[in-house]
Amino acid sequence: MTTPTLTTENLRLRPFTPQDTPAMHQILNGRDVLKYFPGPQTVTKAQVDRMINRLMAHWQEHGYGLWAVEQHTTGALLGRCGLQRIPETDEVEIDFILDPACWGQGFATEAGQASLQFGFAQLNLKEVVGIVHPDNLASQRVLQKLGMQFAQATEYFGMAVHRYTCRSIFLE
Ligand SMILES: CC(C)(COP(=O)(O)OP(=O)(O)OC[C@H]1O[C@@H](n2cnc3c(N)ncnc32)[C@H](O)[C@@H]1OP(=O)(O)O)[C@@H](O)C(=O)NCCC(=O)NCCS
Repeated sequence: MTTPTLTTENLRLRPFTPQDTPAMHQILNGRDVLKYFPGPQTVTKAQVDRMINRLMAHWQEHGYGLWAVEQHTTGALLGRCGLQRIPETDEVEIDFILDPACWGQGFATEAGQASLQFGFAQLNLKEVVGIVHPDNLASQRVLQKLGMQFAQATEYFGMAVHRYTCRSIFLE
């Protein structure tokens, strides 16, 4: 399927392309960006290349996935956001990783809202989950601002996490 492009007040959520590797490499290696992810805290260009290929393949396989997030005013790549399948639990999770240079401007919330709306309105998903490190308060705050509810402290990917859920964004 063709990956749709979504437009929000400040952002464009567009398909990733292999040309995004250098900018995404820089973003992922930004200070504290991978702090709350399992595994190494730095990534190589080859790993980012493979990540982008996987993200593009995810859209083909599932009809949804992660978008490249761009800012209207600058056209710069800010990071990634969207929905991805957790194979181990057969859940759909919301994910966002943005450039530290743009944190605190509401962009993750804005991109997250568009992603959830796409999931519920276009994909007819019943539920979207948010899986977050217990100390990742910024991410938990974004999930809360998206209307997601804390469900439980549990373990995913061999890591202690907080699990948030959202059944419908249309109930608010
Ligand atoms: C999580 C992340 C995407 C948030 O992006 P963002 O664009 O700054 O998010 P927003 O501006 O929409 O909202 C951030 C909220 O967290 C709050 N926040 C930031 N740091 C915080 C902290 N240490 N403790 C508590 N709240 C915090 C902000 O004040 C804001 O809430 P507010 O609007 O009520 O003031 C960004 O920090 C990031 O990319 N982190 C690294 C990757 C990551 O951890 N992704 C999540 C994986 S689950």
